[in-house]
Amino acid sequence: MIKTIAGTKDTLPIEIYKWHYLENLVRSVMKEFNYKEIRTPIFEETALFSRGIGESTDIVSKEMYTFMDRSETSLTLKPEMTASVVRSVLEHSLDKQQQLNKLYYISPMFRQERPQAGRYRQFHQFGAEALGASEPSLDAEMIILAYDVLKKLGLKSLDIKINSLGIPESREYYKTLLKKYLSDKTVHLSDESKKRLDTNILRIFDSKDETDQKIMEDAPLLLEHLDNDSLEKFERVKELLLLAQVPFEVDPRLVRGLDYYTNTTFEIISNSVGSQSALCGGGRYDLLANHIGDRNIPGVGFAAGIERILLACENENCLSINDENPYVYLIRLNKELVKETYNIGLKFRRAGISVELDYLNRSVKAQMREANRLNTRKALFVGGDEYENGEVVLKDMDTGDQEIIKISQLDGIIKKIKG
Ligand code: HAM
Repeated sequence: MIKTIAGTKDTLPIEIYKWHYLENLVRSVMKEFNYKEIRTPIFEETALFSRGIGESTDIVSKEMYTFMDRSETSLTLKPEMTASVVRSVLEHSLDKQQQLNKLYYISPMFRQERPQAGRYRQFHQFGAEALGASEPSLDAEMIILAYDVLKKLGLKSLDIKINSLGIPESREYYKTLLKKYLSDKTVHLSDESKKRLDTNILRIFDSKDETDQKIMEDAPLLLEHLDNDSLEKFERVKELLLLAQVPFEVDPRLVRGLDYYTNTTFEIISNSVGSQSALCGGGRYDLLANHIGDRNIPGVGFAAGIERILLACENENCLSINDENPYVYLIRLNKELVKETYNIGLKFRRAGISVELDYLNRSVKAQMREANRLNTRKALFVGGDEYENGEVVLKDMDTGDQEIIKISQLDGIIKKIKG
């Protein structure tokens, strides 16, 4: 038996309604905020991600699916979308056609991480990127947008954490302070954090090692060493969140796993899933376009993990109603009415009403059982004396009420059902 690769999974028909519901919700909220969908290829030149996300990040140094194709080009399955979206905006000069481009996506991503609940090797994100303005109102919009989607799903147990990483100049100065603070504690740090001292010192805040965490408790904080402009922008983001009644907490220890961030960063954490609790992460990346392309385009965005969100929904009992069942089940009472029943079904289907009927020559009792199993709202009985009189019987499966309908008036009924 050939099976799925570890860290990947099939989405089966029984659970697909949740994906559809979430995807439809994302599309409608994105429309409300005027974001347009963008789709980019599944694989790109490796340099896009290594340069964009940063060589020393976990994603680039350990997790990318990179391979040589037959023409010896190094390709990588996209581990995230931001670099691809920025590449696409630059390549198609979208920034020259209109100053601000507000874009969204729903797409699979690939990272070779150790699989566990909520952590996969192929996973799916929805996200948004706004390119062309450095206004803090867009930073706040990203947080509000992501939060609105999660709230509309019915999730309750959410924490929003925000931070500012400032600009490279203030960050460089701060890194020297942090290095100084850690200089006499290096021996106690974990091996991973020792490596990060030179490659990505801020990420030591993210260490899961208890001694590391203790050491970092008293470390100087970047937020206390920001330049005035970054501080002012951070204040504006906070004001707008308060105005939007979006609850948040400033977490000066929040550092993200990607190198391109400047100023605002944020995460939305769920308390109802296990250790993989970040449902969503994002922030501003004003220098990324220049880094991978030839011009400056300020940007801000977020991405949210769909599998993790659905896990949180399951644990909080949201999204439990499957509304994708057929509306009507046609029950054929006489075996010889196969063609007639089939044709009535077709009429419903062509009028846009979801119908199921029997293909297995089942008994009336078994057809009834099937209608119950599918949880249809109505059952339509075709056959018996009524059919002789040119009639069918429509039964409401909730109330049990029955209505006798002339077959010649079926069009009227279809119209009534469609409302
Ligand atoms: P990220 O924090 O790497 O950010 O990923 C965003 C979200 O994707 C995470 O919060 C998580 O829900 C989900 N995710 C990440 N890795 C996995 C995995 N292995 N399995 C399941 N879910 C996962 C980014 O990707 C940035 N591009 C976000 C961004 C957009 N920043 C600015 N614009």
